[in-house]
Amino acid sequence: MKGLVKGEGLWKTYKLDSTEVHALRGLDISVDAGEFVSIMGPSGSGKSTLLNLIGGLDTPTQGDLYIGGKNIAAMKDKELTRMRAENIGYIFQTFNLLPALSVRDNVEFPMRNLTGSKKMDKSSRIKRAEECVEIVGLGPRMNYLPAKLSGGERQRVAIARALVNHPKFILADEPTGNLDSEATSNIIDLLHQVNEEGTTVIMVTHDVETTRDTRVLRIRDGLIES
Ligand SMILES: Nc1ncnc2c1ncn2[C@@H]1O[C@H](COP(=O)(O)OP(=O)(O)OP(=O)(O)O)[C@@H](O)[C@H]1O
Ligand SMILES: [Mg+2]
Repeated sequence: MKGLVKGEGLWKTYKLDSTEVHALRGLDISVDAGEFVSIMGPSGSGKSTLLNLIGGLDTPTQGDLYIGGKNIAAMKDKELTRMRAENIGYIFQTFNLLPALSVRDNVEFPMRNLTGSKKMDKSSRIKRAEECVEIVGLGPRMNYLPAKLSGGERQRVAIARALVNHPKFILADEPTGNLDSEATSNIIDLLHQVNEEGTTVIMVTHDVETTRDTRVLRIRDGLIES
């Protein structure tokens, strides 16, 4: 699909006391279904802000943002929550796993947010969670708590969790920022594998090595440079 994600004239202004920070300044972006896009740029240039808007975790101050042709800037909270659960998988630099839950239960968790015809009973959720844990190669760690896993393994769990609801796209904010070079290349390989199976990937990264075979967008001062 052309324009799976389409942002037009996106502004994000943060207000702190009497000062305003313009994190995005009328930025345009378009990502087609099936693409693997890397977003690079200096610290503070607005990369995470952009990802948070695309992910519906925050709303633009001005501008339009379409996901699958629907303007999410106009969506109400409940509709937005549903759109997120059904369309988007998230991966963060700090993994963001629930420490008290096993690998299996961390991966099962996002399926609890499915509603209506997408709702799943517990045993189907567990079956799907186990399938995704196998996909990322962590079958033997199914019952582990996150604290017992290496950084690379934790990020694999996060990828499994991002995949469970068959998202249209995955948003990854510096997914390898806390990993050594070997774990980094494993995680990037896994993201390419996921992408080749049809999931669009949008990744923020500081590491040019991780952008090979992707479309690179450079952002500076809240605007896309190239
Ligand atoms: N919640 C917030 N409140 C106020 N200002 C914010 C907030 N979040 C981000 N900013 C500011 O907006 C600008 C862009 O921040 P953002 O986190 O998007 O940058 P980034 O490109 O992701 O940087 P990094 O590479 O360091 O992660 C920065 O100047 C930052 O200080
Ligand atoms: Mg950031």
